[in-house]
Amino acid sequence: MESENRKQFVGMFPTTRMRRLRYLPAVRSLVQEVQISPSKLILPLFVCSGTKVRKPIASMPGHAQLSIDQLGDELSEVQALRIGGVMLFGIPSEKDARGSDSMCSDGIIQQALHKAKETAPDVLVISDVCFCEYTDHGQCGIVSETGGYTDVDNDATCELLARQALSHANAGADMVAPSGMIDGMVESIRKGLDQGGYEHLPILSYAAKYASSFYGPFRDAAESIPVAGNRKSHQMDPAVSADQAIREVALDLAEGADMIMIKPALAYLDVIAKVKNQFPGVPLAAYNVSGEYSMVRAAAEQGWIDQRAATLEMLVAMHRAGAQMIVTYAAKDVARWNAE
Ligand code: PBG
Repeated sequence: MESENRKQFVGMFPTTRMRRLRYLPAVRSLVQEVQISPSKLILPLFVCSGTKVRKPIASMPGHAQLSIDQLGDELSEVQALRIGGVMLFGIPSEKDARGSDSMCSDGIIQQALHKAKETAPDVLVISDVCFCEYTDHGQCGIVSETGGYTDVDNDATCELLARQALSHANAGADMVAPSGMIDGMVESIRKGLDQGGYEHLPILSYAAKYASSFYGPFRDAAESIPVAGNRKSHQMDPAVSADQAIREVALDLAEGADMIMIKPALAYLDVIAKVKNQFPGVPLAAYNVSGEYSMVRAAAEQGWIDQRAATLEMLVAMHRAGAQMIVTYAAKDVARWNAE
């Protein structure tokens, strides 16, 4: 086996010296394969009610909850920086057990979508489709008693997810991204969109999303901490075989997903690589989640790590593993560094 492998290479030392590829910066640059471009990055934004609100998110330096009137300026900046798009999350002022605000034509996310399309029609706007930001219990769907324990009711949630997605489409979303890991969610949303006349509107499915501790800062930002319990009955267990992610992706594709997302990214590069390998033609996204961003920012603030170098290295690794687009809180930073 070893000699088999060796045959693939040109030769051995001293005939072959790998360092020849590394002495000159110009040669190093030529042999690079992975490049970070802002056009491949998607910036998450949190939209809240009120006016003139820019409420900093303590656990995510550089990020704030924005009221709708702030969105125009933010999106102009995104456009000027040539960032690939934005992912919108709504934080309603009123939450209830069914997450009604998320399905209502004048809900927070619908208002934000209208505003976005009005002020910056060329910026790609993706809406996160889930219930955890909108329910008073903080769960990702409607909750019912099943077999003696309280949990997200799968099929009832699917129906509501379809209504939510259709309502986002009506308000102007260019793409919807269901993030709840509810079985059948993609099929249900696809049907709802098609019936509503949105056959052309793509679905970016969070196909393999893990029950991760790296979402901590996001839950502060989106005010979506579950009041009780956790999300382990729908989000994946980090300790299962990466092959389970392959099944999840296959199911979502069969249900009509156009693009697939793996989340989180950094601790799941093996999953990204496997999915890329199994489904080479499928557009693949990685979500560089809040905890990954905040770790770098916190260490950089202490002077323990170089924020720019560490951020770019992480994004390069995600691309190298196989993600062609990355949802990242660092999108604006990267675009500014690129412009320097
Ligand atoms: C659910 C959702 C979450 C994130 C994106 N969509 C939170 C969760 O599943 O608990 C987390 C993103 C991040 O940590 O950056 N609507």
